[in-house]
Amino acid sequence: MMTRRTMLELTVLSAAGAVAAPAADPPFTLPKLPYALDALEPYIDAQTMQIHHDKHHQAYVDNLNKAIGGDPVLSRLSVEELLQRLDTLPAAVRLAVRNQGGGHANHSLFWQTLCPASKGGKPGVRLAAALERVFGGPNQFEEKIQAAALGVFGSGWAWLALDQAKNLTLDTSPNQDSPLLAGKQPLLGIDVWEHAYYLKYQNRRADYLKAIVKVVNWDFINARYEDLTR
Ligand SMILES: [Fe+2]
Repeated sequence: MMTRRTMLELTVLSAAGAVAAPAADPPFTLPKLPYALDALEPYIDAQTMQIHHDKHHQAYVDNLNKAIGGDPVLSRLSVEELLQRLDTLPAAVRLAVRNQGGGHANHSLFWQTLCPASKGGKPGVRLAAALERVFGGPNQFEEKIQAAALGVFGSGWAWLALDQAKNLTLDTSPNQDSPLLAGKQPLLGIDVWEHAYYLKYQNRRADYLKAIVKVVNWDFINARYEDLTR
């Protein structure tokens, strides 16, 4: 059911000009990878990256556009805003936003949190201290997120996120559910859908997880942490 607050927000958007005909361009687009397809070799192979980004992520974008691209109000919101207020959206689009919008948001962050192994950097002083407090240290965190990701039944994600009190949390989610649905801000998501690793690792999810932690972009995660906690 649409809440009064959302009605008001949508009214404000409409008053701002959102009632005009939908733009010819679809509102959501596939972001470019911030590195070459083979940049994460040998840990993540180029063919997996190409199919994962160009096909799977593109499909989430296309399906989200199909679901709400014709709505002049909803299509003015960012995918993160849509997910954060999912319960207030019209029932007819809620599932598509959760699944397709979740897929778009999750993968958009995922690409940025990876980088070539030689360029990953490390957590800064504040983030390292928080990892120490919550998990026992960066190495222990790495072990814990791998274990959490290994334990996801079927398709889903393991997350390092910030809760509303700005504390670090380690979570898992099924399907394409985003931490944004729970009012959290994701910092790092490990994709454990088979499409993320099956070509190279087949059923060996544990081997994929040992590999992907080698190409985590800590400099990016650290900057995001600083932005979200200052
Ligand atoms: Fe994926």
